[in-house]
This record gives sequence, C-alpha cells and structure tokens, in this order.
Amino acid sequence: MAKALSEILADDVRAALTAVLGDAARGADPLIRPSDHADFQANGVLPLAKAVKGNPRELATRVAAVLAPIADAADEAGAGAGAAGAEAGAAGSAEAEAGGTGSAAAAPETVPTSGVIAAVEVAGPGFLNLTLTDAALAAQAAERLGDPRLGVPPTAVGRTTVIDYSQPNIAKEMHVGHLRSTVIGDALVRLLEFDGRTVLRQNHLGDWGTQFGMLIQYLVEHPEARPAQAEHSGEAAISWLTTLYRDARALFESDTEFADRARKRVVTLQGGDEESLAAWREMVAESKRYFEDVYARLDVRLVDADAVGESFYNPYLAEVAADLEKRGVAVWSEGALCVFFEDILGPDGDPVPLIVRKSDGGFGYAATDLAAVRYRVNTLKADQILYVVDSRQALHFRMVFEAARRAGYLPEDVEAVHVQFGSVLGTDGKPFKTRAGKTVRLIELLDNAVDHAVATVEEKNPGLPAADTRAEAKVVGIGAVKYADLSTSRTKDYIFDLDRMVSLHGNTSVYLQYAHARIHSILRKLPAGTETRVHPELALEPAERKLALHLDDFGATVATVIENFEPHRLASYLYALAQTFSDFYENCPVLKAPTDAVRENRAALVELTGETLKLGLALLGISAPDQL
Ligand code: ARG
Repeated sequence: MAKALSEILADDVRAALTAVLGDAARGADPLIRPSDHADFQANGVLPLAKAVKGNPRELATRVAAVLAPIADAADEAGAGAGAAGAEAGAAGSAEAEAGGTGSAAAAPETVPTSGVIAAVEVAGPGFLNLTLTDAALAAQAAERLGDPRLGVPPTAVGRTTVIDYSQPNIAKEMHVGHLRSTVIGDALVRLLEFDGRTVLRQNHLGDWGTQFGMLIQYLVEHPEARPAQAEHSGEAAISWLTTLYRDARALFESDTEFADRARKRVVTLQGGDEESLAAWREMVAESKRYFEDVYARLDVRLVDADAVGESFYNPYLAEVAADLEKRGVAVWSEGALCVFFEDILGPDGDPVPLIVRKSDGGFGYAATDLAAVRYRVNTLKADQILYVVDSRQALHFRMVFEAARRAGYLPEDVEAVHVQFGSVLGTDGKPFKTRAGKTVRLIELLDNAVDHAVATVEEKNPGLPAADTRAEAKVVGIGAVKYADLSTSRTKDYIFDLDRMVSLHGNTSVYLQYAHARIHSILRKLPAGTETRVHPELALEPAERKLALHLDDFGATVATVIENFEPHRLASYLYALAQTFSDFYENCPVLKAPTDAVRENRAALVELTGETLKLGLALLGISAPDQL
C-alpha cells in the first residue's frame, strides 16, 4: 500500500523538525498543504516557533537545511533547489535512505528521509515550499496502478458501523427525502466498506403505528381493494396501497363508527390477532416489492435482509420505558413518560421533553429509537451508528443520543452521528412538488431522469440503436440523479433540475462518465504492443506532474470524506481530476508521443486516471462503463 506523497513529506518534515528542536517538536503537525509556488507547502514551522519562542524564519531555514542535502542529492538535474539548498553545505550532506541517492555523512542536524524532495525553499514568515522529484511522482503512480485499491490501505478493519438509512414508510410512496437518504446512505456504505469496516445496513422501515388500525380494518371490510391480478409489479403494488391509504383515511375521517372499529383494530393488532397480523404482513410485503423495485432501479445495495423496521422493536418498548424510569432518566410529566434536557427549551422557555410513553399509554417514535440504539450497541456490536435522516429531525436525534448516553445504552466509545441532509427544491426554489402540488413519485422521477438522458446519449452517439440508447440512458440518467445529490454539500438544499443534471458540461456525472469512456477509447487506440508502464527515469512535463500529484491525492480525499461523511468532497475531487486530465491530454500527446517510453509513461497516467475515476464513482454508487 502506498503512502501518499503528502504523508511521506509529513514524515520527512516531522523528522527534520525533531532533528532541529528535539523533544519540543514531537507530535507536531507539519501541516503539509498543496501550494501554488511548489508542489506542497509545510506550514507547521510557525506554530512550533511560537511554542518554543523562536524566530520562525530562522527555524524554517534550519529545517530546510536538514531536508535540503537530500534534496540536492536526489535532484540530479539540480533544478529549483532554492535558497536553503545553498545553506545546505553548512549542514553537511545526509543519507537519503529510501531514495538511495545520497552519500553517507554524519552531521548533527541530519535525518534519514525518504528522498522524495527535490527542492526546499523558505518562504514568507517561515513556510517551507517543497518540490518533489519526478522519480517520486512516477514511483507513486506505478505503485497505485498495479493495485485494485489504487494503493489506498483500509484503515478501519475490525470496526463495525450500523447505518440507518432509506427508511420508507409502508403503504406510502417514497419521495425525494427518501431518495436523499437512500443515495447518501448507499455511498457511505460503499466508502466505509472500502475502508475495511463491517457495515450493517438497517432499513428502518416505518412499518408500525396507529395508522395500521385504519388500513387493516379497511382491507378486512373491502377485500376488493386488492389488485385483481395476483401477479403484479412493484409499481402496481404501491398503486393499490396508495389508493387503500387514501380511501381508508377518507372513511376514517367521515365515518365515526369506522373510526371506532379502526381504533379497536390497533388494539387487536397489538394483541397479536392473527387476522390483523396477516393483513399487516400483506401490506408490508406489497410495499417491500415496490421498495425493491426502486432500489434495483437506483442500483443501491439494500436487500430484504436489511429491512429491520420499527415493528421489530415493538416487543422491547415497554421494557425500555420501564428501564429509563428505573434509572431516573425518564420521569412522568402530565401523564407522559418524558426525558428532559437543561439546554433544550421551547420558544416559551419551558423545557422540551423527549416523550417515551404517551399519556394514552402508546409508545412514540423516540421509544423505538432508544430501543434501536440498545440493540445496535448490544446485539450488533456497533462502535459507530449513523442515521441518514433529514435535518428537520436534528433535535430529535440530539435528544435520543443524549438520553441513550444517560441510560448507558450508548457508551462513550460508541459514536452516534445524525448524518443530516437538506431538502430537495423545485426549479422555483420551493419544496419539490408536482404542478398540482403533490409529492413527486420516486419511480416517476427516475423515469423522467432516464428520458432526459436519452437526449444526452443521442447527442453524443447519434447513430446508436434505440435499445442501446435506452440502456446507456439508464446509466447516465440514474447516475445523474445520484451525483446531483452527492455532489452538493449534504446539509444544503439543492434544486432538482434534470436539464442541468444530465448536461455534458459542468460538474455532472455525465461529464465524468464520458471522461472515463474517453480514456478507454484512448487506451484502445494505443499502437499494438504498447504497455501502460511508468518510466521513472523520464523528466515530467508540468501537466504530467499536475496530473500525477492529483492522482496521488485520491486516498487522502477518501479519508476526509469518510471522516466527515461528506461524499461531495469526493465528487469535487473527481471533477477536478477530469479537468486536470483534460489539460494534460491537450498538452501531452499520448498516441503521438515523441518516444515509445514517453507514450508508455503517459498511457500509464491515462490508465491510472481511468481507474481512479471508476473507483471514485463506484464509491459514490455510480457506474462508469468503458464505452458510452
Ligand atoms: N421513516 C421516517 C420517515 O419517513 C424516517 C426514519 C428515520 N430513522 C430513524 N431511526 N428514526 O421520515
């Protein structure tokens, strides 16, 4: 597994800092950042100088002197070794350990370093500008190219994440909110698994609640509400359920006797009555067929075994409530069992409670979530629990996590995160609705996206047979919907604009998918016998260096994405990669390269770019075919 160049540099600079300052520098962060003046910049000298009350520029010069002799030796062309290079003579030459290019000598302020540095320059008040050798860039690319993981090591093997996402409700259509949860959750699953974690998917279906009394009662009284055809699609399933829901609600509101029977039905259902349970199971199964359809169309990994709905926790609710009461975490207030928080007050200054048990004896949403935390920690052994749910539920989750901590259900070493997201808006900037003001059906929205993508595919590929156009449009259209969601910062709202989403220009998945396909077309055109092989002895053009540096940053990008659950950073990285590649391809001919070695070397960069785009998109849940 390849360390990133930025990490190798961090090790080098840390070693040099320690050589100069001794213990005072231990554990200091060298703060390696990309730079406009060199490949990287180390900013860590300034805070350290402040800590030891030294002069930052002088300290930087001494650190540079430790790093520079290696730079002098490694950089055979001698290009670019800056001011510090000249001072290096005073410090003596050092051994470049891994690079093997240095000559041995012992001076007080020297350290063995990796040999990747070509030049060091002190800049401004005490920054270090660091330039890498071409050979180091080449060696990194070679190591990544040979590895399906692109040299990125898994860092979380042996750890377990439980992720609660998608969470549609039985007998109801899925809407854009569920789309966001499903798409973001799916990307996080892929990213966390890539990092070596065990990821347990929990589709917290809304499959319990008083509305089932009304639905079951209606179905029992109106068996003809079911579809005539035994064999029917997921779409037909949700269609009859939606009608059932509408008719049952209308009757519930207009007919008090039916409403009474519906309320009694809730009690018989909870009492385990077989007829009621059978009707409930039927509705759950029908809804699941529809959800599965949507998941298949979206190409997400949720399967039936991941469905652990609210009903699953039903047998534990009474016990959880009693336990919270016993521990003094929950108290009775106005007939309800509540948890209070000092810092959570309503607009009138009164504390806002988390209601565990309502005054009518029923359990609320919170009781289910508390039981779920306990199950996820004790039974599933999670050390991280993620809830991919919209931002409007932020207060709910804050209260649930805090109550669970107090009750000891959520030990300190288990992380619980509400991975929140904003709303989807229409092109008018208002909540996304149909023209008639209804919620948009998810299936319809996905069909529309594919229809829109047909035009894009036709523009790119005019003569393609209709069936192929349709197949490609699926990949392009579904990818576009997911990417539009994942490429905006999660917490922000975004506008659902299909025209923009399927555009070939700008930060879209279509642009990235075509960049990837173009790369494969370049690779297919290479003269027979050309290997995609790195030639480390070659001097690199600026556009080649820029591309190689960006490629090397993939692992670090994935690491920050995982750390903050921010897929949009991976999207930005991939978009910048495609642009950097475009620049490279304009400036550095591959097929018409000046020599065979240069062609092979460039072809290696082309291939690595293709692999990086493909893996990056796959981690977002978006496919990138070789041909489009
Ligand atoms: N089913 C709910 C909805 O449709 C979301 C459930 C969120 N997950 C949870 N553990 N509370 O809005």
